[in-house]
Amino acid sequence: MRILGIESSCDETAVAIVENGQTILSNVVVSQIDIFAAYGGVIPEIAARSHLEAILPAVHQAFQKAGLVTDSGQDDWSKIDAIAVTHTPGLLGSLLVGTLTARTFAILNHKPLYAVHHLKSHIYANWLQASLLPVFPLIALIISGGHTQIVKMSAHQNFEIIGTTRDDAVGECFDKIAKILGLPYPGGPSIAKAAKTGNSSTYSFPHPMPGTLDFSFSGLKTAVLREVQKATEKPISFPSSQLAALLTDQQRADFAASFEQTAVDILIEKIKLALKQNPETQSLIIAGGVSANQRLRHDLQIFIEQQNSKLHNKINLFFPEPRFSGDNGAMVASAAYYEILSNITPSDPYTLNIMPRSEIK
Ligand SMILES: Nc1ncnc2c1ncn2[C@@H]1O[C@H](COP(=O)(O)OP(=O)(O)OP(=O)(O)O)[C@@H](O)[C@H]1O
Ligand SMILES: [Mg+2]
Repeated sequence: MRILGIESSCDETAVAIVENGQTILSNVVVSQIDIFAAYGGVIPEIAARSHLEAILPAVHQAFQKAGLVTDSGQDDWSKIDAIAVTHTPGLLGSLLVGTLTARTFAILNHKPLYAVHHLKSHIYANWLQASLLPVFPLIALIISGGHTQIVKMSAHQNFEIIGTTRDDAVGECFDKIAKILGLPYPGGPSIAKAAKTGNSSTYSFPHPMPGTLDFSFSGLKTAVLREVQKATEKPISFPSSQLAALLTDQQRADFAASFEQTAVDILIEKIKLALKQNPETQSLIIAGGVSANQRLRHDLQIFIEQQNSKLHNKINLFFPEPRFSGDNGAMVASAAYYEILSNITPSDPYTLNIMPRSEIK
């Protein structure tokens, strides 16, 4: 079964064609990072306009790259079984562009339309190109630009949120701290790069909300800001946007490394608690943009190996391929494939609406 997946919830216009939820025939991602690097963050109005320009060429490219073209070189819709689209959660204007595009193609080509929750798609990125598939019951740690959640799944389509952030998402925290340190947008990759030459034990930062599965990252951001003020000998009243220029390269690297290690340690502490509270867990899945972080991958791998040497019940750890960590259309198609296998009713292409906010389901 071939599914065309469309994703436009934030600042990536992405279209992919995926076979049976796993095999990638094409995966087109048009990123707006270059546009927003100049602003230091996403401007919703500009994101929506950029999606409008990129979406139809991206659909066409997805067909071309998959080799699904008619003799006259047109996109061959007869080779597509269903269309899947992110309709929630995300930026209102951005979601509208992808959803209206999917609705239109579904009507024109008489294809079933699947409306997929964005966080569900991040989870199903772990099914893409996988030689070994996750097994239930599983725990998914969703760490992205807008969300930080621990979700328990006893089967496909069964989601129970067992931990969530009370304030900022971890990806947002990376982005905000990068700004304080004068590192470019998006903050995650630039902090990871700067951290390579830094010493992670130079500064110590708090681990909020110990003993619970909930997270809090806004205090961590403030703690880093206070340490930067101290290191630059500036008062709280000094404009934070001017602090970065006063840091040496080594201080910047040490802050990046110390913060990255703290964020990774917090995530692993929460996972440790979630696994302790759910000893029947078979698989641990990491999902969302922050799952690209190499320090996290390394430290979690070691943690799970240690756990498995002690436990009767071995846990398999899954990370998406780094190209599927961030937003992409392939994960939307994969999530929809398992909706089809679960006999979920397709959406009405004449009425499907978007929702900027909603819980995973
Ligand atoms: N190597 C990395 N280390 C840490 N964070 C990273 C890395 N690469 C990307 N990120 C972070 O991932 C986030 C983007 O992830 P993603 O695209 O999944 O988020 P989003 O789609 O904007 O938000 P959501 O999925 O919650 O709607 C950004 O905050 C970015 O800084
Ligand atoms: Mg995302």
